[in-house]
Amino acid sequence: MKVLIVEDEKEILDLLKFSIDFNLKGAQIHSVSNHEEGVKFFEEASNLDLVMCDHDISGSCRDFIHKIRIVSKEAKIAIVSSVEKVFIKDIDHKDIYHFIDKSSITSDVEDLIQKFGTTDDFQRNNRSYVPIGINLLKAIGICPSDIFIKISSEKYIKIHREKDVFTDEEVRSYQRKEIDFLYILKTEQNKSLDIIQDHINFLLSHKKGPVNLEDTLVVNKLIFNAGREFGINEQLMEMTAGNTKMAMSIINSNDELKNKLAFLFENSHNYIPSHSLGLSILTCCLAKELGWGSDATFCKLTFASLVHDLTLSDTEATEYEILKTNDEVFQEHPSELASLVSKINNVPPDVDRIILEHHELPDGSGFPLGKPYSLLYPLSCLFITSHRIIDLIIESKRKGINLTQQSVIEVLENEGFNKGTFKKILKALERITLF
Ligand SMILES: [Fe+2]
Ligand SMILES: [Fe+2]
Repeated sequence: MKVLIVEDEKEILDLLKFSIDFNLKGAQIHSVSNHEEGVKFFEEASNLDLVMCDHDISGSCRDFIHKIRIVSKEAKIAIVSSVEKVFIKDIDHKDIYHFIDKSSITSDVEDLIQKFGTTDDFQRNNRSYVPIGINLLKAIGICPSDIFIKISSEKYIKIHREKDVFTDEEVRSYQRKEIDFLYILKTEQNKSLDIIQDHINFLLSHKKGPVNLEDTLVVNKLIFNAGREFGINEQLMEMTAGNTKMAMSIINSNDELKNKLAFLFENSHNYIPSHSLGLSILTCCLAKELGWGSDATFCKLTFASLVHDLTLSDTEATEYEILKTNDEVFQEHPSELASLVSKINNVPPDVDRIILEHHELPDGSGFPLGKPYSLLYPLSCLFITSHRIIDLIIESKRKGINLTQQSVIEVLENEGFNKGTFKKILKALERITLF
């Protein structure tokens, strides 16, 4: 099967390729980023089975279809769009073989391939490894399953575990080597498609979703105030300010979260609001330093920072975090909040996991799961480390002690934050200027 894809969004292009590859053996896919190149390729190519075109790219989709029809009356054209088919009024639907909604690419492509499949020309793909585009991994920021690199036609080497963070540095290094694809196991593809589609839906909904600028500005101001109060280097704060927009649009879409957060922010000098605001700064600047800087990752970290303790009263949190007392309400707040967050629409994937694990510790002595460092999600490790740093800052302010970056690093080393992913985070902390 020969397919031409006209698509300018790299992550959508990779997901289309990934979905076609899932369903078909040996599909030959060529892609271009605009109508003009699409028409040119179509005129020159022979035996193209399908043209897929993004309805949302600049230029007239209607003119594009018209030009394709001049060359071939029979060409099968599929339209990819972020709006539902019923709202696409500028083209004649009779001209279109199939519509693909960006919020359900994987299942819509499967339906499309099944239409083709009835001709018996195509077989389901049975290879044991399937390619996944670098741009797609970059957009979602994490590995949806174990990731392999192809060494030869027979040999693949595992380079990432499921849920590892995919770093900016890696993206650049693959781009330099002109490697466009890594690989996942065929058996993991179904599960990966679901994870990827969740991320894409989340990114799409926030690209077009309403953003209340005023709320964003208020939160940014509070973040800067908290940062100044903690003595955090101003340059580090700018990183977070640019990333609160997406997180706030999700919080504002849920009344319960919105009200709880508004109430806390009215008391922004109290423990929970100030440490949550401080956390949003630290998690984002460490993520950037680690090269974990996708939009999805920044949004997850900011969102988790702002909501991770929202079911607690300030007294409960202060007593535990600072005075180290303990009770049932406190023990249960990570699971309670993780379950609340998992039920909210459009919350970035995996945020519930960061919230569930935010009181775990590298030596396995944390709660509620008591997981050792090797079993913690990398973004949780970043969150746990940042949380500990903020608490060290708050503790030292209360005690009137002058805290230095070196003493923060020493405490973290003594407490076991120098293993596995925590070690990488500690190294990133050494590279930034905290105060
Ligand atoms: Fe907290
Ligand atoms: Fe907490």
